[in-house]
Amino acid sequence: FAFATRAKSLATMAAVNEECTGNLKRQLAKLFDVSLKLTVPGEPSVEPLVAASAPGKFEDYQCNNAMGLWSIIKGKGTQFKGPPAVGQALVKSLPTSEMVESCSVAGPGFINVVLSPKWMAKSIENMLIDGVDTWAPSLPVKRAVVDFSSPNIAKEMHVGHLRSTIIGDTIARMLEFSKVEVLRRNHVGDWGTQFGMLIEYLFEKFPDTDSVTETAIGDLQVFYKASKHKFDLDEEFKEKAQQAVVRLQGGDPLYRKAWAKICDISRTEFAMVYQRLRVELEEKGESFYNPYISKVIEELNTKGLVEESEGARVIFLEGFNIPLMVVKSDGGFNYASTDLTALWYRLNEEKAEWIIYVTDVGQQQHFNMFFKAARKAGWLPENDETYPRVNHVGFGLVLGEDGKRFRTRATDVVRLVDLLDEAKTRSKIALVEHGKDKEWTPEELDQTAEAIGYGAVKYADLKNNRLTNYTFSFDQMLNDKGNTAVYLLYAHARICSIIRKSGKDIDELKKTGNLALDHPDERALGLHLLRFAETVEEACTNLLPSVLCEYLYYLSDYYTRFYSNCQVNGSPEETSRLLLCEATAIVMRKCFHLLGITPVYKI
Ligand code: ARG
Repeated sequence: FAFATRAKSLATMAAVNEECTGNLKRQLAKLFDVSLKLTVPGEPSVEPLVAASAPGKFEDYQCNNAMGLWSIIKGKGTQFKGPPAVGQALVKSLPTSEMVESCSVAGPGFINVVLSPKWMAKSIENMLIDGVDTWAPSLPVKRAVVDFSSPNIAKEMHVGHLRSTIIGDTIARMLEFSKVEVLRRNHVGDWGTQFGMLIEYLFEKFPDTDSVTETAIGDLQVFYKASKHKFDLDEEFKEKAQQAVVRLQGGDPLYRKAWAKICDISRTEFAMVYQRLRVELEEKGESFYNPYISKVIEELNTKGLVEESEGARVIFLEGFNIPLMVVKSDGGFNYASTDLTALWYRLNEEKAEWIIYVTDVGQQQHFNMFFKAARKAGWLPENDETYPRVNHVGFGLVLGEDGKRFRTRATDVVRLVDLLDEAKTRSKIALVEHGKDKEWTPEELDQTAEAIGYGAVKYADLKNNRLTNYTFSFDQMLNDKGNTAVYLLYAHARICSIIRKSGKDIDELKKTGNLALDHPDERALGLHLLRFAETVEEACTNLLPSVLCEYLYYLSDYYTRFYSNCQVNGSPEETSRLLLCEATAIVMRKCFHLLGITPVYKI
């Protein structure tokens, strides 16, 4: 056997492996990578696929590359009789490693890996000293754009935008933790024909636009509805509104000013929601791309992509039964032309390598179409997993308890701010019922109610596979049992109180104490902690925050089992177990952080 030509994917993976800090799967793959040199000369190697085994299994991880190798070398005069024999050879050729206690071949040729509890304990000790950021995964990108929230001016910011805000923020946080520079973009719908009627209506109501205040214009949504109503009924108004669009797009200062006013008022409303949710975003709305649109469409035209169809300019795309319209028959641009331009800008001006869009699944076709057009233009590689890369992160509907689209009684849309208020009020009531108002200061009560209330809303959303619809229920999300933020926040607070009650200086213990994973429940908890990095990596690469929620829920489960079976305070193993408690609390807090949830320390 000699060195094989290395597949390209292996090379990229090896590059990532150079920095596989904390990521067990990758560390193991790196180990098994060495033995891949057992392949036939001239044949591509196989990527060692390492998978975590289910809880309760004898082994911790399984590697499948004995089978992969066999499929390459069989029938080529190999001395091996089958995958198990290849597996044996691989196991023998593995370099010694402190991380592995034993390796064995099982069944049709899987290689079972059992980790060394000593190494596991040491890795957790190291994390306690060096910080949990050393467990951040490393991703093959430096800069990403996350396009999320993106409500529309003067239209309602509905629950769908709440989902986009929450999911997008978590994705951004996970990437940031993985040392990716994230441009958090609010692609606000601040341009389009609706501004014609809005501005015209504004002029009618407030002839002196300088005097327009937020309160005078009242609820912009009501304002929007009224202007739409007039637009539909009043021909003269309609005419004026259409002219207003032309003037606005032509840059008439008076119209620009009115437009800016309307945008400002909406912006203040959006900011209120973001501030409550503690979500940071940088607005680059649709209008930002106006100066670039003609140039970009011209580029597509030069490349021969754009064709004439019924007076409009369109791009025909394979696999879609309708073309993508990029210039309307009246010469104006639309949602797709703006998105193509924004993509061009993000790739060329902002040098982003990964561009992620978070909207409801209803917009999937739009994204698939303009992604395809971008590939056709050669802006993106053919292979959609190669960078620079684009992804549409779609999500399902939020349903009310009646199974219909979520609405409140009074209005036909749910005001986000009211929703957050209610979650907070309800969690405060529950805290008072438990007598916390007597134990805590009013600020503590308020902050805890907020952390729990907002955390509950976020977690109830994030824990579901984002593609499925979910039912919005305050009763469910504020339950202190089951898979809820309340349960998890309490679990964390309880760990903190155990550490406090020990009376030990935990920072001192981190430096001097040793951790051991002798009891099976200690080992199981330790193993789960060590799987943090690979879990975040999986959640990032598949753009699935629910993967992280599931991890967090299991973490508290493993902890409960450990705590019920292993005495902590006052036991001979106290130091080691306190360190394990602290490591659990740290990883839980990191999960909360990535999910945008504020932890509580007292309960
Ligand atoms: N404003 C759009 C909406 O409310 C979402 C925009 C999403 N981002 C994008 N680049 N298209 O539906």
